[in-house]
Amino acid sequence: MNTTNIESFSFNTSEFFQNPYPFYEEMRSINPIYKSTLLKYQGWYITGYEETLKVLKDSRFHSRPPIPAFSRNYENIRRIQENMMLFTTPQHHRRLRSLVTKFFTPNIVNECRPFIEETVDELIDQVSCRGTMEVVSDYAFPLASSVIAKILGVPVKDYSLFKEWTATFIQSIDFTRSPKTLGNSRKATEEIIAYFKKIIREREQEPKEDLISKLIQEKQREEKLSYDELIATCVLLLIAGHETTVNLISSSIFLLIQNPRQLEKLQDDPELITTAIEEFLRFESPAQLIARTASEDIIINEAVIRKGEQVYLFLGAANRDSRKFRNSHQLEITRNPNPHLAFGHSRHFCLGSSLARLEAKIAIERLLQNVQNLQAVDGNGHYRKIIGFKSLVELHVTFDSYP
Ligand code: HEM
Repeated sequence: MNTTNIESFSFNTSEFFQNPYPFYEEMRSINPIYKSTLLKYQGWYITGYEETLKVLKDSRFHSRPPIPAFSRNYENIRRIQENMMLFTTPQHHRRLRSLVTKFFTPNIVNECRPFIEETVDELIDQVSCRGTMEVVSDYAFPLASSVIAKILGVPVKDYSLFKEWTATFIQSIDFTRSPKTLGNSRKATEEIIAYFKKIIREREQEPKEDLISKLIQEKQREEKLSYDELIATCVLLLIAGHETTVNLISSSIFLLIQNPRQLEKLQDDPELITTAIEEFLRFESPAQLIARTASEDIIINEAVIRKGEQVYLFLGAANRDSRKFRNSHQLEITRNPNPHLAFGHSRHFCLGSSLARLEAKIAIERLLQNVQNLQAVDGNGHYRKIIGFKSLVELHVTFDSYP
């Protein structure tokens, strides 16, 4: 592929969504910091590992996006987006993150272990006598959404609402967005804000032992957290807290089915689960693309990135960079060290990484303890037509349950 082909490349093909890595490889071989002028999203496309790391570590790049088109005329929505820690100014971010981070330390997260184990066991019970399941909707999604719902303190039964809201919301921030998806997303964001306003009102009157009640206490204590910040944090945690975790759990199962020798290795030595999860994160990074904006002119390698220009960091590409990872396109569940960037790095490093790792570990461990001969029906497993996330639409599998 040459520069002209990259400029005219259509991201919008099934081939690309199934397997974007050959394209990333070619883009990196032209330049790991590539300036695109003709594509729909102008800016710098970064596909190299070291280059991605440099940007993430450099505080002159900020994550405040240009105002998304769908919220430009909607003050209510814009205020919430501007108060999400992922998109705020550095000072604002520091304060918000420090208020929330204490609820996601590895020790606190470990307190969720019994609930996660119980939920996983129930889900396996529901499918075990059938010998078949659709991994995303029967397993990964109910697990990840129940866990974040339980932590936040919203009714688990509402999870079909979360699914719709999240899907429309993430579509609106993707390269593939269209006027229609922007309209849907505005509606979904309005609904999700109204949903949290109602729950916050209830918890203000009758606090419980959940995260929303604890955040309300922070709000009441010397006004440490404003009302908009509180809603924005709930919305962010709900969306960030399940979409990517669903992707991780379902892709991990698909990867094991596609790589029977690695599956065998893990079945023979279940202790390998910890390095296996890191390798799944590297190999099929659930968040494939994040963005930054230069707050001044910045030179990275030889590229001069001008103030205000957008930088797109293809985490999925960085994690397959052969200059960093030996046999980068091979799944090796024993890979160690594995300094992947699937959870980002530095200032905005994923707040929920311990939780996501714990959920995935229990989900895969217990599934393999309970079933054997896992097979994908017709070898299927289709990825959603979206660039920012590696997200399986569905994955039908068959298996035999251990007696
Ligand atoms: C940030 C990935 C699960 C909450 C991030 C970022 C990435 C990421 C790449 C950085 C974004 C950036 O720098 O622009 C993932 C993956 C997950 C996962 C791959 C699962 C496999 C979770 C969970 C939660 C969560 C379970 C919530 C409990 C957050 C929050 C941020 C974040 C709040 C923003 C942090 C900040 O701005 O300081 N995540 N995430 N994530 N993640 Fe996750």
